[in-house]
Amino acid sequence: MRLSVIGTGYLGATHAACMAELGFEVLGLDVDPAKIDALSRGELPFHEPGLSELLVKHVQSGRLRFTTSYQEVGDWADVHFVGVGTPQKAGESAADMRYVDAAVTSLAQHITRDALIVGKSTVPVGTATRLAGLIQATRAELELPGEVELAWNPEFLREGFAVKDTLHPDRLVVGVDSEHAEQVLRQVYAAPLAEGAPWISTDFETAELVKVAANAFLATKISFINAFSEITETVGGDITTLADAIGHDPRIGRRFLNAGVGFGGGCLPKDIRALQARVSELGLDRTMAFLNDIDDINLRRRDRVVDLAVQVLNEGAVEAPSTVLPGQKIAVLGVTFKPDSDDVRDSPALDVANRLFTAGADVAVYDPQGNRNAAGRFPRLDYVGSLEAAVTGADLAILLTEWDEFKQMDPAQIAPLMKHRAIIDGRNVLDAKAWTDVGFTHAALGHRFKLSIDEETAE
Ligand code: UDX
Repeated sequence: MRLSVIGTGYLGATHAACMAELGFEVLGLDVDPAKIDALSRGELPFHEPGLSELLVKHVQSGRLRFTTSYQEVGDWADVHFVGVGTPQKAGESAADMRYVDAAVTSLAQHITRDALIVGKSTVPVGTATRLAGLIQATRAELELPGEVELAWNPEFLREGFAVKDTLHPDRLVVGVDSEHAEQVLRQVYAAPLAEGAPWISTDFETAELVKVAANAFLATKISFINAFSEITETVGGDITTLADAIGHDPRIGRRFLNAGVGFGGGCLPKDIRALQARVSELGLDRTMAFLNDIDDINLRRRDRVVDLAVQVLNEGAVEAPSTVLPGQKIAVLGVTFKPDSDDVRDSPALDVANRLFTAGADVAVYDPQGNRNAAGRFPRLDYVGSLEAAVTGADLAILLTEWDEFKQMDPAQIAPLMKHRAIIDGRNVLDAKAWTDVGFTHAALGHRFKLSIDEETAE
């Protein structure tokens, strides 16, 4: 069986390389010739552990090729996966469907044989039914040979674990309207099925909704614990212990209850907004209204870090002035939306870095992988090449992405480099005692900020 993958961004490039690894001949298509040239040379345009190796391996073996030609994929492949983006529309909550629509229309116009189109993009419910109609109408009009079917097969991969999640998925969900489409997909996914991955065969609507429901649930878990952070920051208490304690209940589970600066990335934020927009379109205005709060709680975390920075820099002043004092140097540790990724899309860390800069601080940013992408968005921040360079001479360090390099920092080594010993843990990964033992003012999200030593003594 020959596969094509339309769209060679994050999702498509991963899917293409992993399908080649499973033994298929794969042709990746993108409308961006620069991307296709790079991939054809075995160069991955983003960071993802293990993916570059797979790309090189299968470009060299000849099993994985790339093209910009719909005619070529339409003549050649039996199954076409569509993994193009569905970004948030500018100034609106809804998903921008123009890339999916363009990809499916182009396929419908160029396929010259029996084939299955498999949508993988995250889309508003109802899209697959609409696209199935579009495919049939387009082909009837052009009187093209061959039977073209559609299936929807959402993708649940996480950045940083994309290869593992694709080769060993924790479930396979397929929305189909024919026995034949299901059989084709069972053949494609024979390897993970043999490993025991649960197979969920359903209709288009359920398959589309599974994806947005999963992301909305994950976002809700994160904002749930972050809402409790607002309580523990006010009244006292330990947010991590709280998460551990409720997480022991298997009905709740501990994962995705890490309190911190909140969720970002190319999926969770835009998917919860697109879901609200879609249900409103369906006349169900109240149904997903709670997701507004999930989004608000998430965004308030960023305000909190900035407020905390102002408080710490003002040595614990409770009535914090509204801006960070100009000239104070803040080391921002991490700008990607999560570790093991170079992705800064909707990154809480980068947003906070920019807000601190706007508030007048002198911001030195260090991220093990994200500096380049971040500089593309906010070029005025000072991007430095190491942790040491970031903290040297700083009045305050703020950890915003939990890279191992930051989790493993030795406070005794950082202390002499800084002008003032102050750190904010925006991800709850540092051992507070280790930092305070060497004289740091330590503040963390989800914990009441203790005033400076002088004020405590004075009380
Ligand atoms: C997510 C979904 O997990 C994945 O299934 C879907 O296919 C795409 O969207 P991803 O965007 O790669 O994947 O990141 P994920 O690991 O889910 O993290 C999302 C965000 O939530 C990150 O910013 C992360 O830092 C944050 N997060 C996660 C928390 O703040 N606390 C947690 O406990 C977990």
